[in-house]
Amino acid sequence: MTVPTEPIEPISNTVESETPGVIQVRDLVTHYGDRMILKGIDFDVRQGEIMIIMGGSGSGKSTLMRHLLALEQPTSGSIEILGEDITTLDTVGRANLFKKLGVAFQSGALFSSLSVGENIMLPLAEHTKLDPETMRIMARIKLEIVDLAGFEDLRPSELSGGMIKRAAMARAIIMDPRILFLDEPSAGLDPVVASALDDLILKLRDAMGMSIVVVTHELDSAFKIADRITVLDQGHILSVGTVDEIKNSDNERIQNILHRRTEQEIVDPEEYLRRLTGGEFVEETVAP
Ligand SMILES: Nc1ncnc2c1ncn2[C@@H]1O[C@H](COP(=O)(O)OP(=O)(O)OP(=O)(O)O)[C@@H](O)[C@H]1O
Ligand SMILES: [Mg+2]
Repeated sequence: MTVPTEPIEPISNTVESETPGVIQVRDLVTHYGDRMILKGIDFDVRQGEIMIIMGGSGSGKSTLMRHLLALEQPTSGSIEILGEDITTLDTVGRANLFKKLGVAFQSGALFSSLSVGENIMLPLAEHTKLDPETMRIMARIKLEIVDLAGFEDLRPSELSGGMIKRAAMARAIIMDPRILFLDEPSAGLDPVVASALDDLILKLRDAMGMSIVVVTHELDSAFKIADRITVLDQGHILSVGTVDEIKNSDNERIQNILHRRTEQEIVDPEEYLRRLTGGEFVEETVAP
């Protein structure tokens, strides 16, 4: 989705469109011990958008996500999810919130002692009083959506890496969440499998109208699926913008992040050799 380009400076982190917001974070500060990790973050997600959170390792991406899920208490600041301040929720309020959110964590492994189907039904068992047969049917529908129909009786150890990610996604959407959170969904996958996962994320947004927050290091994936990208840097928000705005940003730190990643991710062998040899080797060998 392309929205009209606005100047990227001064940085605007707040929702200014007519689309309702599903997440609204203001001046979020958080510490681990004495260390300040998030240093005053403003962050918005609109209904039905895919928001990517990018940033170097340790920049605070997972920490931000855990706060959005009310799994950690901030030092200060406000976090509104679906119109509700989640920093003051009691146990019941938190349980109700969890019914509306789906999440697949960075380390989001499935339980190895359970079958794929049992793994996917876990949130239903936890949050609903549905009978087992209904749960099984619902799990089958979600497995169908992630292209894993018929795999419910296998153990996670019998699945490939990409299939495990898909199963984790099926579990995350089993309750038809309003907002889906995915932390590094395609990390460690080969490019073809990762790209298929991107298609699945787009499908969930388009077909089910979910708002989706994705933490990722993968530039190709971010550029393919993002409506907007938030760039985190050492606990600060460096910029928020569309793919084009981020790509064309004249902010040097953003360009460093983008440049470093593309340097590492060259896959075309000729291009790789050209860069390795400063151009000479490839020039010589391919010259007519
Ligand atoms: N439970 C914790 N206790 C103490 N420090 C933590 C904890 N979790 C994260 N940190 C620190 O907070 C900072 C931000 O971590 P976070 O996991 O949010 O980074 P990230 O951007 O998700 O990194 P990555 O890309 O490596 O996943 C890091 O310096 C990390 O060491
Ligand atoms: Mg992380």
